[in-house]
Amino acid sequence: MPMQSRTPARLGRPLSVIGQGCWQIGADWGEVSDESAQGVLGAALDAGVTFFDTADVYGDGRSERLVGAMRQNAGGSQANGDEPFGGSSPSAPLFVATKASRRADPFAPESFTEENLRAWVERSRQNLAMDTLDLVQLHCPPPAIYRDDRVFDVLDALVAEQKLAAWGVSVETCEEALISLEREHLASIQIILNPFRLKPLDEVVPLAREKGVAIIARVPLASGLLTGKFSPGTTFAANDHRSFNRAGEAFDQGETFSGVEYEVGLQAVARLEQALDGAMPLPEATLRWILAQDGVTAAIPGASSGEQARRNAAAGSAPAAEQQAVLARFDAAVQQTYDDLLRKNIHPRW
Ligand SMILES: NC(=O)c1ccc[n+]([C@@H]2O[C@H](COP(=O)([O-])OP(=O)(O)OC[C@H]3O[C@@H](n4cnc5c(N)ncnc54)[C@H](OP(=O)(O)O)[C@@H]3O)[C@@H](O)[C@H]2O)c1
Repeated sequence: MPMQSRTPARLGRPLSVIGQGCWQIGADWGEVSDESAQGVLGAALDAGVTFFDTADVYGDGRSERLVGAMRQNAGGSQANGDEPFGGSSPSAPLFVATKASRRADPFAPESFTEENLRAWVERSRQNLAMDTLDLVQLHCPPPAIYRDDRVFDVLDALVAEQKLAAWGVSVETCEEALISLEREHLASIQIILNPFRLKPLDEVVPLAREKGVAIIARVPLASGLLTGKFSPGTTFAANDHRSFNRAGEAFDQGETFSGVEYEVGLQAVARLEQALDGAMPLPEATLRWILAQDGVTAAIPGASSGEQARRNAAAGSAPAAEQQAVLARFDAAVQQTYDDLLRKNIHPRW
């Protein structure tokens, strides 16, 4: 079944509804070798993914460089089965979103000088080997930055200079998304949206839809919790953020397991699995549920293997008629589980 794509008005370019999250192929998820990283990208390409989300800080540029090499390889005429990325020819031009703003102190508004912004973009252009970056997202900047016209004037100038085609924001909170939606050149919002994070559906997603702003749903599998593969005894490597950021020690707590306490997350997963009753794998139901929300452009699951990337991409096909009933049942369970176990802690915070 073919991958679907959506074209938000302010981007004016089609994105595959499943994008490949590329944090894993940078760092912070335990060891991922270059071969595994290339396997993830090649599998995603083979499965029809044309949208890739990376950032300049993932592995200090490693993720961008791998995506840049894949992009060149996929567009190159000599691609063949021996190429590291599988030699796939994408069905549509690839779309690469990157992020900037965490290379200097990411918590200090003073880091957001014109000089720094220009230097970060320049480095991404080199890492990705692209003259014009498809999309640059501010990478969860400090709250004050969302109201700082100076920063957005620089981004507009970079668009005018064709260093980037569009800019967006990757936000922590719905409030930050709503402030950003006041800007007429905002092209995209990246936000955590999954069965553990329903608040964006209240206001952010409907307003973005109305304005033609892309909604990119990140952390769609709650860092893997929503695959159902974890148990109380699961352990993670020391250099995996699921070990070192559970309480928000390194960056926002919401980026790890969507900010849901691990044991509570396992209880919520058990309820969702029960509702599915084996009719659809939990990761597939989760991704299809996200894509069914009106106004969502794409979900961007990360993957630590080609097999995961392939399975996630399969959720980007149009749901079959018999799957609709399963998804309706799943939706009811998502709403109930959120109200019973999660809303109290999640809704006020993000
Ligand atoms: N601030 C920001 O802007 C920001 C923050 C976070 C993420 N992001 C972006 O969003 C993307 C996605 O978020 P995320 O990677 O944090 O979390 P995620 O997509 O919710 O979870 C990814 C993890 O889930 C597991 N997984 C994925 N597919 C699976 C499958 N089919 N079967 C079994 N397990 C599977 C893997 O865990 P294992 O590693 O245990 O195999 C994988 O590492 C990132 O890659 C990045 O591009 C952006």
